[in-house]
Amino acid sequence: MKVILEHMEKEVFKWCQIEYKHISKIIGKDNLIFTNIQKKYKNKLNNLGEVNTKSVKGLNIKRLCVLDPRAKKVLSPEDGKLFDYFVFGGILGSEIMGGRTKKELKIHGVARRNLGKVQMPTDIAVLVTKKIIKNKIPFSKLKFKDEIEIPIKRGISTILPYRYLIEKGKVILAPGLKDYLRKEDSFD
Ligand SMILES: C[S@@+](CC[C@H](N)C(=O)[O-])C[C@H]1O[C@@H](n2cnc3c(N)ncnc32)[C@H](O)[C@@H]1O
Repeated sequence: MKVILEHMEKEVFKWCQIEYKHISKIIGKDNLIFTNIQKKYKNKLNNLGEVNTKSVKGLNIKRLCVLDPRAKKVLSPEDGKLFDYFVFGGILGSEIMGGRTKKELKIHGVARRNLGKVQMPTDIAVLVTKKIIKNKIPFSKLKFKDEIEIPIKRGISTILPYRYLIEKGKVILAPGLKDYLRKEDSFD
């Protein structure tokens, strides 16, 4: 199973870097291809996977599947026989899901699958895909939490209005994300 991450934000923000590092850890550097990366960001991602300035749309890779919350079919373990490459939008979550993956990550003739209709952060979507394709666990057997609250400091917290995977009773979060949010929200 290979992951293609089509970066779709204007910059490779710190938040993107935290998620991309988590993805590289989940799937392994040798199984991760970043596409649509501006030259100036290549150095930031080189140690996490293969980095390509071209869009996935120009790479002519076969047996692709785009993960899109608006796709009609749910990804199933059987899809592992049909596809080798799983394409994700390098898009940060938005409070209201605007369908950016459907609108902007269109590849002619390529299949699409959903992981439920609620948006997950990209790293969590990759982890859930791995569970379904590599570990052959059907989507219906996985446990999720929709919307999490991160305490920042006394009486202040941030809500992340996305879907997260639960494993062994714990919400899975990209390493370093909490610290990043705490620093960002510092009122000192
Ligand atoms: C944070 S999501 C962005 C979703 C975006 N706001 C939209 O409306 O399409 C980032 C990427 O993770 C993947 N993803 C997240 N949740 C998903 C879901 N429920 N089903 C399929 N793919 C999902 C998609 O590849 C998506 O482009």
